[in-house]
Amino acid sequence: MSDNMSLDPDNWDELRAQGHRMLDDMIDHLAQVRERPVWQPIPREVRDRFHAPLPHAPEPLQDIYAEFRRSVAPYSTGNIHPGFMGWVHGGGNAAGMLAEMLSAGLNANLGGRDHMPIVVERQILEWVRELFNFPKGASGLFVTGTSMANFIALLVARTRALGEDARRKGLADSGGKLRAYTSRAAHGCVAKAMDMAGFGTDALRLIATDKLDRIDVEALRAAIRDDRDAGLTPFMVVGTAGSVEAGAVDDLNVLADICRQQSLNFHVDGAFGALAMMSPELAPRLSGIERADSIAFDFHKWAQVPYDAGFVLVRDGALHLRTFDSPATYLRRDVRGLAAGSPWPCDFGPDLSRGFRALKTWFTLKTYGTDRLGAVMANTCAIARHLERRVRSEPLLELVRPAQLNIVCFRFRGDDALNAELVATLQESGIAAPSATSIDGRVTIRAAIFNHRSVEADVDVMVDAVIETARTIAERKR
Ligand SMILES: Cc1ncc(COP(=O)(O)O)c(C=O)c1O
Repeated sequence: MSDNMSLDPDNWDELRAQGHRMLDDMIDHLAQVRERPVWQPIPREVRDRFHAPLPHAPEPLQDIYAEFRRSVAPYSTGNIHPGFMGWVHGGGNAAGMLAEMLSAGLNANLGGRDHMPIVVERQILEWVRELFNFPKGASGLFVTGTSMANFIALLVARTRALGEDARRKGLADSGGKLRAYTSRAAHGCVAKAMDMAGFGTDALRLIATDKLDRIDVEALRAAIRDDRDAGLTPFMVVGTAGSVEAGAVDDLNVLADICRQQSLNFHVDGAFGALAMMSPELAPRLSGIERADSIAFDFHKWAQVPYDAGFVLVRDGALHLRTFDSPATYLRRDVRGLAAGSPWPCDFGPDLSRGFRALKTWFTLKTYGTDRLGAVMANTCAIARHLERRVRSEPLLELVRPAQLNIVCFRFRGDDALNAELVATLQESGIAAPSATSIDGRVTIRAAIFNHRSVEADVDVMVDAVIETARTIAERKR
């Protein structure tokens, strides 16, 4: 055995030069994003290269990097491109990218202990509290994304309903009677959270929506009443601030009223919509969110922080702590030394080891400022309104959902198969990447404008391409 097993390089200058090349290339990659296709299918030989045997022996870093440039970078998701309009994907940003490198260099573990990265995460929590007008006792935590944030909020609501006993005993008899409520337009991760928490998805009532996908509050009241009459125990309402399909925002004030009257936990899934609090133009649409018991949202969506950076905010920090803290000898706390600073982030969620998501968020918020990020959000809504006008003006297109925020859903006048083919063909063309969904039982083209680089001309290019592609498909079939 060598007496030096360190993985550090023999020659730091070589590493420095290699690192500088990588950084330069990645900055070029961002600066030249418009010159590349939005997305391109992975060629078979590239995919095949990634069935290689386990690498027992070392390879030079520059060779591995060359493989990355050849095989990985060109075939990424494409969401840094302004023509990417599928699903709900943020565009990332250069300052956040650099911060990711710094985080990796520090290699900090934010599960706990007393070090500055945790202080940075707590700084973000303070900013989040301020943004949503939450009290000082509110707790919060970075997580992978809103799916996990919703799950954590649900477990906090479970503690409120059943007490901490549920942590030992499980749902037992009383837990089986609990019922939660959300709208049919809610994201599927809410049902998944019910499944993972052991309630089962049947314990989640999916309430009807109006024609803009907002929860029907009268139907909600009726469902709560019916469940109480049947001897069940309503315990939680999940409102949506920015629905995944069409950007609908529930009437959060009415939901807050219902929850207060009925003593229910009020959680808001604001995966992308919640951070519209940064925009004075959009914030009034979220009125009532400040009354929630908890909010789940992602910095990696509309706020453009690089993936991943989800967050859960809980009004009652003590309840949040009681839901997750799990003393262990090997995690002994102290009032001084590295083990000081309790409670630690691991006391507020399921993860013990945690990366430094807070740093890229801190860099992003400070580099651009929340006013500018809010203006980016408002601008994407203006682009979506432009798209809506464009769709309305095209006789071959049919508007399915208007621009409530930054999402527009429309169809080419034709059957489902044609609309699905249009979307896939458009994605493969590299010109634009909307996604396909199903609304009112019909395949629908969905354009969600999240990227700070997108401009009106990008949605025009997308609409032109939809019409042109439909013409090409029709000619081919003739
Ligand atoms: C409304 C809503 N909730 C939850 C999620 C899930 O968020 P994540 O992908 O960060 O887990 C999404 C994702 O798009 C969403 O739009």
